[in-house]
Amino acid sequence: MEFALKDSRLTEEQEAITDISDLSGVGPITAGKLKAAGFDSVEAIAVAPVRELVEKASLESSVAHKIVKAARETIHTDFVTAKQLWEKRKDLKRLNLGSSNLDTLLGGGLETQAITEFVGEFGTGKSQICMTASIRTQLPEEKGGLNGKVLFIDTEGTFAPQRVYQIAQAAGHDPEKILEGIIYSRVYNSDHQILSVDHAFKVCQEENIKLMIVDSVMSHFRGEYIGRESLAERQQRLNSHLHKLARIAQTLNLAVIITNQVQANPQAFFGDPTRPAGGNILAHASTHRVMLRKASGGIRVAKVFDSPYLPESEAYFQITEKGVEDAQAKGK
Ligand SMILES: Nc1ncnc2c1ncn2[C@@H]1O[C@H](COP(=O)(O)OP(=O)(O)OP(=O)(O)O)[C@@H](O)[C@H]1O
Ligand SMILES: [Mg+2]
Repeated sequence: MEFALKDSRLTEEQEAITDISDLSGVGPITAGKLKAAGFDSVEAIAVAPVRELVEKASLESSVAHKIVKAARETIHTDFVTAKQLWEKRKDLKRLNLGSSNLDTLLGGGLETQAITEFVGEFGTGKSQICMTASIRTQLPEEKGGLNGKVLFIDTEGTFAPQRVYQIAQAAGHDPEKILEGIIYSRVYNSDHQILSVDHAFKVCQEENIKLMIVDSVMSHFRGEYIGRESLAERQQRLNSHLHKLARIAQTLNLAVIITNQVQANPQAFFGDPTRPAGGNILAHASTHRVMLRKASGGIRVAKVFDSPYLPESEAYFQITEKGVEDAQAKGK
């Protein structure tokens, strides 16, 4: 194994590699298998675990190793200095969500290169945040947007184009143009959900997707895997699904929102009798976790409860014709 730090410059030969069939070891048949499994760009291969190429593209392990190595050499994913990491963070963009309270809670808006999870009971505003964000992502950066399109993966069939239209119109945007900028996929089971994300890399690159949403991430997994004996398999598949989302976010510098439900926590004798679904796997995969709850007078309270650098604080927002907006706490 080589431990030397890589020079960030590419050789001319490496720069010429733009298509997966330019990679050494990838002939037309292998290219076809890779593309069919969603590995349609050098970046997608470089960041994939070898095991995934073996399982999803039916490649021999030695072939998969060679191809992944070639892809990683092309885009230099091995060792970097903290300075290079810091440089990459400078590319990080922030999306304003329509409520400056929420933006402040998130350290200045929803960030790219990360997964932000909104958890809460029904009606707490998770899908409303997703729909508002789908509109705002399309705004130029100087208006708090990300100047890109949105990929919306809907597992529950609750995405409402008429609501997007209403929010866009109320906020003074062209509703039809906004709807054109949302690429929608209704997924009917966890296999379908995984497949959609497996194939998202290419769509995200080609369509300039800047926000990817999975609303909600756990519903199919929870519905399909019932009972203790299937839990390990569920968590393993969920883990690989979430890692794929994280890789897309990091490699393509886009934001990811996932929503999640709460479930009963029978172990809680004190405090909140509910907890987010998905257990440790989801807890580790989400960069920032935000809990939503309803307060009186239609006010919603958002609270960061797990994040590598955001403090645990609360924000008040409300759901209106314009989507998500600031709210004042009672008595303030
Ligand atoms: N046009 C609107 N104007 C004002 N409030 C609205 C409007 N549309 C929806 N709402 C509010 O949004 C709430 C629904 O929020 P949302 O669909 O985001 O919930 P959720 O957290 O996604 O719930 P679930 O877990 O069921 O998916 C409604 O209860 C209503 O209070
Ligand atoms: Mg919802």
